[in-house]
Amino acid sequence: MATTLAVLYTAARTLTTGPAETAPPGPGLVELAPAYVGICGTDLHIFHGDMDARVKAPAVLGHEMSGRVVRTGPGVEGYAPGDPVTVMPLRWDDSCPACRRGHRHICQNLDFIGIDSPGAMQQRWTVPAATLVRLPDSLPLDQAALVEPTAVAVHDVGRAAIRSGERVVVVGGGPVGTLIALVAKATGADVRVVELSAHRRRLAEQLGLTTWDPDADDVAKLVQQWTDDAGADVAFEVSGAEAGVATAVDALAVRGRLCLVAIHPRPRQVNLHRFFWRELTLIGARLYDRADFETAVRLIADHVVPAEKLISKIVPLNETPSAFEALEAGGDMMKVLIDCAGESPESAKADVA
Ligand SMILES: NC(=O)c1ccc[n+]([C@@H]2O[C@H](COP(=O)([O-])OP(=O)(O)OC[C@H]3O[C@@H](n4cnc5c(N)ncnc54)[C@H](O)[C@@H]3O)[C@@H](O)[C@H]2O)c1
Ligand SMILES: [Zn+2]
Repeated sequence: MATTLAVLYTAARTLTTGPAETAPPGPGLVELAPAYVGICGTDLHIFHGDMDARVKAPAVLGHEMSGRVVRTGPGVEGYAPGDPVTVMPLRWDDSCPACRRGHRHICQNLDFIGIDSPGAMQQRWTVPAATLVRLPDSLPLDQAALVEPTAVAVHDVGRAAIRSGERVVVVGGGPVGTLIALVAKATGADVRVVELSAHRRRLAEQLGLTTWDPDADDVAKLVQQWTDDAGADVAFEVSGAEAGVATAVDALAVRGRLCLVAIHPRPRQVNLHRFFWRELTLIGARLYDRADFETAVRLIADHVVPAEKLISKIVPLNETPSAFEALEAGGDMMKVLIDCAGESPESAKADVA
């Protein structure tokens, strides 16, 4: 047993850093040294206490990460100490009806590692070898921490079956919405991002995206002008807000597709008449599979997704609690990473975006 440092969620609005014990990895397991871990919207939901029924405190959070292999357990082949990796944080049972239909990523008994079981916000993390996704040596590990949310975007663009030339509205320009917009654009779509935050709109514009402000702009009218009265082919709901759902539904053309990515913890009012009238389709999109992860690695490594530009701030592990508070306060930030190893000069980096 060795003792390292971990961030622990102990109760609503309470995170602490403290020692954690690590044991040698068992059969089929690999011990990693997480390098960078992203804080995501779901981690904030947990921090608020909204997911206490599911998250067993004290819990280690974190499912967006990059790191290196420390040691492998018996029977693990193909990985050596020092190898750069990320983790696809899903464990399925391989036997439920969803798994039997080939949809293991949304297994009916899914273990989402970092929510249902211990996550990456610690200096040592043991995971099944099957969850590892290898990273190119040339890919900086801070950028690689964005592979997981990029895989979400790849999955969503695939679920919506975006074709080149289609007009796409992304409602909600947080990290996930911005990544969806970038992936859709790389697929050849003409994209508009609807986002409340001026800071996030500015960043999206710097990334070459066109944005609209739902408070100041009449989005429905702008969509009409943009599409010669037709409406958009696809709208992604990535805001998690009821107003965002309405914006997305109202933007769609006849036979348009609404791709629902955001987590709506409560039932929402939706204009179903519009679905009937325009023959709209609603497509749910959740998580990703291995192919989405591998595509995400490639998109970041090839700079199609400029991950470095989405990183607003990198904080050392022991400053994680204040980073959660700052994000919650809605500071001018996109993606915040935790530097678990504390070795990088990056952790000294101040706000850059
Ligand atoms: N489907 C999945 O597998 C999956 C994976 C990851 C995240 N999510 C969910 O996707 C959502 C987005 O994730 P994120 O990390 O980018 O979250 P986020 O909270 O950072 O981003 C949401 C953005 O929507 C904007 N917004 C709020 N109301 C709006 C409105 N009415 N119109 C336009 N914009 C509005 C906010 O300003 C914010 O920038 C969250 O609900 C998250 O839980 C889903
Ligand atoms: Zn299953």
